[in-house]
Amino acid sequence: MNITKSVLVTGCSSGIGLCVAHELHKMGYQVFATARQKEDVTKLKELGLNALQLDLDDSLSIQNAVKQILHETGGTLYALFNNGAYGQAGAVEDLSRDVLRKQFETNLFGWLELTNMVLPIMRQQGYGRIIQNSSVLGLVAMPFRGAYNASKYALEGLTDTLRMEVNLTSKNIHISLIEPGPITSRFRANALKAFNNHIDRKNSVHKDLYQRLIDRLEKEGPAAPFTEPPEAVLKRVVHALESPKPKIRYYVTVPTYLFAFLRLVLPWRWLDNILKRY
Ligand SMILES: NC(=O)c1ccc[n+]([C@@H]2O[C@H](COP(=O)([O-])OP(=O)(O)OC[C@H]3O[C@@H](n4cnc5c(N)ncnc54)[C@H](OP(=O)(O)O)[C@@H]3O)[C@@H](O)[C@H]2O)c1
Repeated sequence: MNITKSVLVTGCSSGIGLCVAHELHKMGYQVFATARQKEDVTKLKELGLNALQLDLDDSLSIQNAVKQILHETGGTLYALFNNGAYGQAGAVEDLSRDVLRKQFETNLFGWLELTNMVLPIMRQQGYGRIIQNSSVLGLVAMPFRGAYNASKYALEGLTDTLRMEVNLTSKNIHISLIEPGPITSRFRANALKAFNNHIDRKNSVHKDLYQRLIDRLEKEGPAAPFTEPPEAVLKRVVHALESPKPKIRYYVTVPTYLFAFLRLVLPWRWLDNILKRY
């Protein structure tokens, strides 16, 4: 079968999405690099990428992007790399219902809507790959990351279920999760923005502890040991796209391997004692 390797990537304005879109394009994939801001779409086009606007918070924007992609590919799509997301920093007690809902709108509901839109195409063509960029924080929790943790835990659950359901009817559609630890990107800068915009720091019971969080989010360069560049994720994305038997989970960075192991072997309280220091 002669398959055009078309790949839709979300969240390409920076970080992992930008790297993956750019490198897959160089490798010969037909990449549809998407970003939510018009200026970023223009920048992606200037890089020579086939770029479109796609805001995961906006159903119409998702529908329009998919429609345009199908128009360009003649109704097929080889793969979807679900990637665009942000981290809502802040203690669970300081999250309003709206702020948590917003985190889920972007990190989960948008991904679900997009996935459910491309799956019928993949079923019809008889093949496809869906790659979910989750996180080590989809495997273990850490203080002041509750909203993000919850969105990635939910993604893990939804993806595990989806994978089994899809496998019941379509053996040639593969669904993989990628579990990066710390990766160089705009993630912390964007998390700081979300913190400043949505958390009432001054009235928080955690206001003193927040300084450490802010210092970490503001830090230039890597803030955690074993931080890797986005190319480390790219490597796993390429495997998930090209292997005849893609993995269900790809661990990226030492902290992911470590915590994935520790959560299986340590009593929960011991694990808390390690994780709550971060
Ligand atoms: N960096 C890490 O340490 C790390 C670790 C584990 C997992 N991850 C995961 O990796 C993925 C990419 O993050 P990154 O590290 O590359 O961070 P990043 O540089 O902040 O990139 C995040 C991307 O998501 C986009 N995005 C945010 N809200 C969106 C929306 N409503 N619709 C469409 N796109 C939206 C951002 O666009 P704007 O520029 O418009 O905001 C940006 O392009 C995320 O799923 C994240 O959870 C990252």
